[in-house]
Amino acid sequence: MCYAVITKYLALMYQNLLISVENGIAIVTFNREKSLNALNSTTILELKDFFSEAAYAIEGLKGVVLTGAGEKAFVAGADITEFSDIDAEKGAIFAKRGQDIFFLIERFPRPVVAAVNGFALGGGCELAMACHLRIAGEKARFGQPEVNLGIIPGYGGTQRLVQYIGKTKALELLMTAEIIGAEEAFRLGLVNYVVPAGEEVAKAKELIEKIATKAPVAIAKVIESVNAYFKEDADGFAFEVTAFGATCATEDFKEGAAAFVEKRKANFNGK
Ligand code: COA
Repeated sequence: MCYAVITKYLALMYQNLLISVENGIAIVTFNREKSLNALNSTTILELKDFFSEAAYAIEGLKGVVLTGAGEKAFVAGADITEFSDIDAEKGAIFAKRGQDIFFLIERFPRPVVAAVNGFALGGGCELAMACHLRIAGEKARFGQPEVNLGIIPGYGGTQRLVQYIGKTKALELLMTAEIIGAEEAFRLGLVNYVVPAGEEVAKAKELIEKIATKAPVAIAKVIESVNAYFKEDADGFAFEVTAFGATCATEDFKEGAAAFVEKRKANFNGK
């Protein structure tokens, strides 16, 4: 199926996600501009569908870019208007569901890049952190302001923020609800690049194109192995040994090694 047909098909599937596939890269745009692209339950279920089913059906997919509609927000958090009748039990279900969906992103075998074009607050910051790489536009703003509402992050924010920027600054941001700009996010190690406003998606695509020149199984194994570092029940080093072995059995390893010896560019087939 050609990418234009896939794009048309996906447009029919989702209400709050705009999806286009260009040259093997899926651009997923959170499309609730009036609510600053807040994640309501429909959006989160559409995200689940995309990362558990639809994305795997896109032949030759190089990677996925997530971004927000409009110039103001990437995603301004979970939709606060849906919080009215939540209690302890519903809250825990809400958080678990969101975490499981964000794991689908973190464990996706192709690179997922957040192109953060504005506010990435609460669930929006957590969403960006579930992606493999983050590009911040100059207008990007990051924060976990949940304590302002009397709650804590529930989509992995207390865990991934520590992983990325360390306990010292993570605790400060989580407890003060301070919102930081793109340069500060870069300085803290939260984002990979800061680019001029409007160039976030282009930079994300550039990175995905670069990664697409490498062996796909190796990329998937890098993602799995790095994730294993953060899994309590996994020995990351042991995982890496097995994953390394698996890459040695690929056709792409033979091709990569042969290409090096023959002083030519490798032509990987993903097997
Ligand atoms: N859920 C639902 N609606 C939201 C939202 C959210 N997380 N964030 C923003 N919106 C809505 C606003 O209610 C407003 O709707 P309205 O026009 O119908 O009144 C619209 O988006 C625009 O937001 P507004 O607050 O007017 O813009 P602003 O420029 O003054 O402020 C923010 C921008 C991002 C600082 C502010 O909207 C905000 O603090 N949002 C909540 C962030 C948050 O706490 N996220 C974590 C949730 S767990």
